[in-house]
Amino acid sequence: MADTLVIFGASGDLTSRKLVPALYQLFRKGRLEKPIRVVGFSRSKFTHDEWRKKLRETTAKFAGESFDAKQWESFAEQIYYQAGDIGKTEDFVALRQFLETLEAGEPGQHLYYLATAPRFYEPAIARLGESGLADETHGPRRVIIEKPFGVDLESANALNQSIHKVFSEQQVYRIDHYLGKETVQNLLVLRFANTIFEPIWNRNYIDHVQITVAEEVDVGSRAGYYDTAGVLRDMFQNHLLQLLMVTAMEAPVRFEADAIRNEKVKVLQAIHPLEGEQVRKDTFRGQYRGYTAAEGVEPTSRTATFAAAKLSIDNWRWQGVPFYLRSGKAMSCRTTQIVIQFHAPPHKLFAGSPRGLGEANRLVIQVQPAEGIQLHFQTKVPDAGMKMRQTDLDFSYQKEFRGQMPEAYERLLLDALEGDASLFARADEVEAAWQICDPILQSWKSNDRPTLMMYDPGLWGPDECREWMLAQGREWFDTCPVLG
Ligand code: BG6
Repeated sequence: MADTLVIFGASGDLTSRKLVPALYQLFRKGRLEKPIRVVGFSRSKFTHDEWRKKLRETTAKFAGESFDAKQWESFAEQIYYQAGDIGKTEDFVALRQFLETLEAGEPGQHLYYLATAPRFYEPAIARLGESGLADETHGPRRVIIEKPFGVDLESANALNQSIHKVFSEQQVYRIDHYLGKETVQNLLVLRFANTIFEPIWNRNYIDHVQITVAEEVDVGSRAGYYDTAGVLRDMFQNHLLQLLMVTAMEAPVRFEADAIRNEKVKVLQAIHPLEGEQVRKDTFRGQYRGYTAAEGVEPTSRTATFAAAKLSIDNWRWQGVPFYLRSGKAMSCRTTQIVIQFHAPPHKLFAGSPRGLGEANRLVIQVQPAEGIQLHFQTKVPDAGMKMRQTDLDFSYQKEFRGQMPEAYERLLLDALEGDASLFARADEVEAAWQICDPILQSWKSNDRPTLMMYDPGLWGPDECREWMLAQGREWFDTCPVLG
């Protein structure tokens, strides 16, 4: 019995750039447990063959060297297209009939992927319900929902309520592609499959944590969307908070969806929400010079393309350990890294002992690119008295395992097909994340907001942000990863 994946918003970018290439890779590598049919649904009119042809070109482009024409042909035999409008129940009824024809009396699992613009999520879900497509009598029916999940707490709440009228929480897979990255999952392995890190993973040894998601690209062709969203909605509410949760959570009792998500939610619940004066003190907003000249951006736009925030987690493990989060477009380089900055030694035994935190031990988790981990520590320079220098133990995915890292969507699609929601966000998790971001967004709209600092593209954000960190006796780890 085959699984069927229906992609709503099939003619969009996400489908051709990420989803179909990921499915093709899963097929090519023999990872799919059951045969799969892919059905595209959107308003554009295509025949099955036209759509297959279009996807062949884009998949060949994005799959690069791993594209194999013969494999593609056998994968593409099971690709179909059904034109339809998300606003029309009759088009969903037609979709149901089409799926029944394809299944020819052998109904299997359906996975519905909402790759549409977010305003279509609610109508698509309602139509799925009305047309009987959410009914699980003939097999599992699951829905995958892309980000952004709401624009604030209220809208996320309303979206959850609409979803729950049609699908139970167990049927819902809210995607955050950062959780599909190998290095993010490896953080769980690093912490919970080794014994040496856990005892020092707390306030007794750690001074602070930095989570940076820097992008070299600017807003590009997405300026219209970006100007209404800004960096907090685009990156913090989802990706940065996910990285924070995985870094800070307690060990789950089992490696299973709800056990993992329970621990993640507890981290968010322990974060002290920033409000009013504290937002001014502990958050930072910036905009790169030239942003307002981009097509689709209001010339007077005050949208932040860079932000930093200092968050405190009020629990036994993390009391007094600030988590510094920052992200921006048009920065020095593309790097996502988590820096665990340990305390400096309490007693300076050697004349050249590390003076500040900058020379104290540091564990750098390189999420991307140059995926790997480095442990920084002091070493005696040979033949130079007791002179010391910081060196590192370096683990590189590329050197150790060779080969290409899989795309995040491969893992996530496979998990959703197998019914494993561990790497997907639960309703309460998304809402708890908005509870942290909402008050910041509110304050940023008020007269009392922190000043918007300008920065030149190609730097690490506004200079003032570096000074803000220095004033706290700390320093950003502004290092571009070395690609092997
Ligand atoms: C997306 C954001 O969710 O993540 C984009 O909307 C951002 O603005 C992207 O560029 C970054 O993803 P990655 O995987 O390239 O780090």
